[in-house]
Amino acid sequence: MKVRLITSATSPAKELVLGLAYNGKNPDLGVALQAAVKDAKKTGDLATKVRATSMFYPTGRKLPVRMGFVGGGKRSEVTVDKLRRAAAVAFNLASSHEVKTFRLVVNQDDHKDLDAEVAGRALTEGLILGAYSYRKPSGDKPPTPRAQSAEILYTGRNGKGFRAGVQIGRIGAQATAFARDIENLPGNIATPRYLANQARKFKTPRLTVRIMNERDMQKHGMAALLGVSRGSREPAKMILMDYKPTGYKSTVCVVGKGLTFDTGGISIKPSANLADMRYDMCGGGAVLGLFHAIANGGMQGVKGKVRVVGVVPSSENMPDGDAQKPGDVVKACDGTTIEIINTDAEGRLILADALAYAKKTYKPRCMVDLATLTGAVVVALGHEMAGIMGSDDDLIQDLIEAGQECDEPLWQLPLWDVHRDQIKGKFADVNNLNSPAHGNGSISGGAFLSFFTKGVPWAHIDIAGAAWGATAKDYYTGGAVGTAVRTLLHWVRGLK
Ligand code: BES
Ligand code: ZN
Ligand code: ZN
Repeated sequence: MKVRLITSATSPAKELVLGLAYNGKNPDLGVALQAAVKDAKKTGDLATKVRATSMFYPTGRKLPVRMGFVGGGKRSEVTVDKLRRAAAVAFNLASSHEVKTFRLVVNQDDHKDLDAEVAGRALTEGLILGAYSYRKPSGDKPPTPRAQSAEILYTGRNGKGFRAGVQIGRIGAQATAFARDIENLPGNIATPRYLANQARKFKTPRLTVRIMNERDMQKHGMAALLGVSRGSREPAKMILMDYKPTGYKSTVCVVGKGLTFDTGGISIKPSANLADMRYDMCGGGAVLGLFHAIANGGMQGVKGKVRVVGVVPSSENMPDGDAQKPGDVVKACDGTTIEIINTDAEGRLILADALAYAKKTYKPRCMVDLATLTGAVVVALGHEMAGIMGSDDDLIQDLIEAGQECDEPLWQLPLWDVHRDQIKGKFADVNNLNSPAHGNGSISGGAFLSFFTKGVPWAHIDIAGAAWGATAKDYYTGGAVGTAVRTLLHWVRGLK
């Protein structure tokens, strides 16, 4: 989906012009269509309910063949997500009429008090994400005819701000679509090697990509990660992406669980819905998405000089004669020993080495990790939000705010010393699990990671619910959500 912005109608749109229709005042599609809009209203068919659509066929020289509306409800109740959804509905309306391209007219009144940049971003995201559909590996074309491009005609105040919004909206949404694509791929295609090859494509003069193989991991003593990978024939990879602006003042590390298929290992999972464990790399998908955005100009216009390092430990978790066993003790690259109580709690093991390595190598001012870490977070919070916890409330708050602005909610869970004490080990420094009697399954995952991030402000985002299976909402229709790509981009852009 290509989105172009214009601020004056130099040429008439031929096939289809769309606008938003609110209760009360007539929608404004420009002088040429004023009479046609009035006629449409007279019939009583102009739908103004949120997401309702209507289509009219104006007659007259130089008028488009069709003009249509997406309902916005009460103008005073417009929100960012309503705009995003309205744009996605506009795309679907255009597609259902089999037009290849359409114009979406947006006025100041359409976004009221919302900032022009925020509105431009939301509408562009809605168009691009609304147009997203997963393509089967066979290269099949999507089944229904779909619009290929849209032109937003913006006539409101602060055209410059709106343009900036369109630009960053486009970068964030395309990166999210990229993340959805790799997240939806099955485990036999999206292997650790596949993820590494995707990352290699991000190379630009400011962005370097380095891939560690198992031999490198051995050299660094990453036995926690290697332990998870032991049962698999696919070699593990550690993907390191490093965006370094000239004269950078500080560094942040963003780490994502890239477990390309989680069988549970020797603590094998039940077979129901096991294919969903393709999504166990969605934390890595979010970090790869962030770097897709950065590689495509996502940090343009940002004043803060922050180096952003992305780390994606990637592996399969398989049962095998050589697989690690419950009771095994491994040593992470920072020297911490871990007893493997359950081989299915593997995400925290690969993250332990990734976080400890990132801390030591880059000396970041803060670290954030994202992972489909626990089924328990789905029980606690469902699919509409992710859980967040960590060691630094300011950092957590900043991320929650970034999530809010992108409509990717984060909900804070506690992480206390009592939780950390629950996983101190008998046969090793820490267990990879607390006792089931303690409960707090998601917090326990965070508590484990906290041992590898000591001394650095850190936040852990458990996206096991948010990564897939959310309620459909026009710009998400099923499968991988591509969650947290836009939130991360928004957050790194705001760093001072
Ligand atoms: N990848 C899973 C977490 C998961 C489960 C994500 C269901 C999405 C849906 C993770 O590696 C895992 O297996 N976690 C275990 C931890 C347990 C052994 C402490 C879990 O949640 O059951
Ligand atoms: Zn697991
Ligand atoms: Zn897992």
